[in-house]
Order: sequence, then structure tokens, then C-alpha cells
Amino acid sequence: MRGARILLVVSGSVAAYKALELIRLLRAEGAEVQPLLTEAGARFVTEESLAALSGRRVLRDLWAAEAEIGHIRLARWADAVVVAPASADRLARMALGLVEDLAGCVLLATRAPILVAPAMNPAMWAHPATAAHVAALAARGVAFAGPEEGPMAEPESGLGRLMEPPRLVEAIRALLGGPGRLAGRHVLVTSGPTQEPIDPVRYIANRSSGRQGHAIAAALAEMGARVTLVSGPVAIPDPRGVTVVRVETARQMLAACLAALPAEAAVCCAAVADWRPAEEAAQKRKKIPGEAPPPLPLAPNPDILTTLAAHPDRPRLVVGFAAETENLLAHAAEKRARKGADWMVANDVSAGVMGGAENEVHLLTAAGVEHWPRMDKREVARRLAGRIAEALA
Ligand code: C5P
Repeated sequence: MRGARILLVVSGSVAAYKALELIRLLRAEGAEVQPLLTEAGARFVTEESLAALSGRRVLRDLWAAEAEIGHIRLARWADAVVVAPASADRLARMALGLVEDLAGCVLLATRAPILVAPAMNPAMWAHPATAAHVAALAARGVAFAGPEEGPMAEPESGLGRLMEPPRLVEAIRALLGGPGRLAGRHVLVTSGPTQEPIDPVRYIANRSSGRQGHAIAAALAEMGARVTLVSGPVAIPDPRGVTVVRVETARQMLAACLAALPAEAAVCCAAVADWRPAEEAAQKRKKIPGEAPPPLPLAPNPDILTTLAAHPDRPRLVVGFAAETENLLAHAAEKRARKGADWMVANDVSAGVMGGAENEVHLLTAAGVEHWPRMDKREVARRLAGRIAEALA
């Protein structure tokens, strides 16, 4: 985290005292921390404490800050914006994009990744209003850390505690990605559908847009990896800084993947057609008036994921995707075992995510199952890339 510039928004919650420890830990890692204290936050922690620990003047008032640095410059200064603790009120204001204070302005103006660490009474966290705000923010790519389960300030217990500062540091590390965390690593990614020709004009394909696979390739490249993206036909642009190998059929995709080895990790995100027409007609198949439709015999395609996972030059980390319309976790677990993948990213495609901008996934690893809330596919990609960097470290 050396040199990382973190803007820390401290909003109104009893847990605000933990922001002091968070600043200490982040600075010990070499990060610069600029505290921004909201009006409600100032009821719980003093400006003087934040200033002493951060070694910086604490920003509070919108108009004073405007005279000094301006919210746009501040928003651009930050490599990451962390809201810890985030109160129910702050989540609501963020979800609505309200800009009546400095925190609101900066949160709307920044292009840096945002991490929110909520802290509130369990009933407030569980309220549908809060849940809707969280869903809206997650859908825009805002990352969440916690809340955690445990005793609260009031004599009660539940889900609402601020994540402990050491774990928050890890979440911030993952958010920053840290350019170069994957430097020197080669990662192979498959993306998009395959097209399996019936004849020179027709093919079998599927609805995959390539968005998730391409976003993963982009996120890995942003972290410094050398990425080979083997993609079926898609209508989206090539990610920056990635070597793209374009293919049409599953067999071409397999050949391109094998040619790209060795790689430290492989992420098989492509929606590969399970079957192809057993024979590709050399000429367009003709419709003969009065005759029944012709049969279309199919042959199985090679499984690229299984082949990579069993290869003598196997990538150290093999990640598959399981798109299911029912029994999501059971099918994904079965696939993980059968295909020899280390991780499986499971998503419910009955929920209309195929071709869309968002995804809601479960990550299945040897350690168990994690549910990630619905979020932008780019955020899923960033998180997954962060996890891959951790696993390869
Ligand atoms: O069996 P299913 O197609 O559901 O498995 C999905 C996973 O397997 C994805 O990671 C997909 O990229 C991969 N796969 C593959 N080659 C195939 C079929 C699936 O790599 N022929």
C-alpha cells in the first residue's frame, strides 16, 4: 500500500472510534490517509484525534474545503475512497446521490473505487430501506466490507458491527488491487460464446455477451498480469492491455488455450457450446418443399476447462464458471469436482444476468462457499482478480 492515497470518510456511528485504529494501520502500511469527518461523525470522534493519527488536517466543511482544495480535486486525489463507519443515513444519501455536504460531493465526484464499511443497529441494517440502498450501491460497483455479527453498543447482538480494522485493511488492499500485484504472471481467460457451424451460413450459439470474461481480463491486466484472452465472437471492444485471440468454435478455443500455456492461472468464463453439428455441410442446407425438417445430429465438444485442469502444464489456479437455472450450488459443486477446477464461480442465469451488466455470484473454493451480492460485472471481475492475486502470491 506504499504511497496509496486513501480518503477516509468517517460518518456518524459509535464505531467511529475504530477509524482511529484503521488510520494507524493504514499508515503503518505506508498509505496516506486523508480523513473527512461528517457532521454526525464529529459527534463520536474528534477532529483532533483524526488529525493526530493521520498527520493531516481533517476536512469537514464543504465551503471551507472548496476554498482550500475543492471537492473535485479531492475526489481526484484519492486512489480509493473508504467510508468507515458508514451509517444508515450515509448509505441512504450515497444511494440517492445527495450532495449537501463535502462527503456527498466527493463520493459523487470520485472515479476511484469506493469501499463502504457499514455500522449500525441490526434492525436498521435489516430494514428493507437499507437493503435497497445497499443493493443500489453494489449494482453501481461500490464494494462492501461487513457489517459483522456480534455484540453492539446497545445491550444487544446481531449483524451490524463495523468490520474490525485489520480486516478492513485487507479489504482496502483488495480494493486498491495494487498495480503490479500480478506483475510477471500470465493468466489465460476464455470469454464469450462459441459458434458451431451447421453449414456456411448457420450456426449453433448462445446468449453469452462476453462481458464478464472481458471484464475479468481487463481487471487482471490492470493488476499487471500478462493476459491472453481467448474469445468467441462478441460485440464488445477488446479490453485494454490484453492479447486477444479470436476464435469461433470450441475446438478452435481449445487449440488457442493450449497454445497459450504455460499460464499461472486460467479463468474459463466462455460459454462453450456443449455440442456441435456432427458434420458441417459444405453447402447451405436446402429446404425441400413438402419434406420434414432434416435431422441435425450432434457431436460432443471437448471440455476446455477439464482439459486445462488435467494438463501436464496445468495452471496453478484453474477457475471455472457454472451458469445454472436451478440447483445452483449443488450443480456448481458437482462441476467443480468433476472438471477438476480449484474454484467455481456459480451464477443463476435464470435471473436474467446473461448478457446484462450485473451479476450475482457464489464463489466455491476448497474452503467453502461465499455469496457475493449482486453487483456490476466489472466489480465481480475486480474482486475475482484480487482473489487470484492473493492465491498466486
Ligand atoms: O458444463 P458447463 O458448460 O456448465 O461448465 C461450465 C464451465 O466449463 C465454464 O467454466 C466453461 O467455460 C467451461 N467449459 C469449457 N469447455 C466446454 C464446456 C464448458 O471450458 N466444452
